[in-house]
Amino acid sequence: MTFSELVKARYSVRKFSDKPIEPEKLNAVLEAARLAPTAKNLQPVHVYVVASPQGMEKMRTLTPCHYGAPVVLIFAKNTQEEWHHPQEDLTSGSEDVAIAATHAMLAATDQGLGTCWVKFFVP
Ligand SMILES: Cc1cc2nc3c(=O)[nH]c(=O)nc-3n(C[C@H](O)[C@H](O)[C@H](O)COP(=O)(O)O)c2cc1C
Repeated sequence: MTFSELVKARYSVRKFSDKPIEPEKLNAVLEAARLAPTAKNLQPVHVYVVASPQGMEKMRTLTPCHYGAPVVLIFAKNTQEEWHHPQEDLTSGSEDVAIAATHAMLAATDQGLGTCWVKFFVP
């Protein structure tokens, strides 16, 4: 797949099969996230892989947008590690997270895996 075919192929999946994800495919997705650029290369992004039955049960209580995914990746930033502007009240961790998650989503498409970016969590 060329890059332009890849970006056209990606779409939000809202119904997943319960087929387990091959570890090498998951590793390729995580590696793409790891290689994403971050402000000043501070790498404040942390990715939590939720795949256990207990973890999935917890995810179902946190969001209605679970869609039966066999694996959930939680992208987070460490606010102690993100870049802070020296004079202004500005940080770059959220951008770093978004870039890493986008890398991961496109890598998943490249591996033949479906994804859906979910922001809606029950407060
Ligand atoms: C920041 C962001 C938050 C999103 N949150 C959700 C969400 O909570 N639930 C959901 O089903 N889709 C969510 N989406 C997916 C969008 O609805 C979807 O990307 C958009 O409708 C375009 O469709 P496509 O991904 O199939 O191209 C989110 C996407 C982004 C970029």
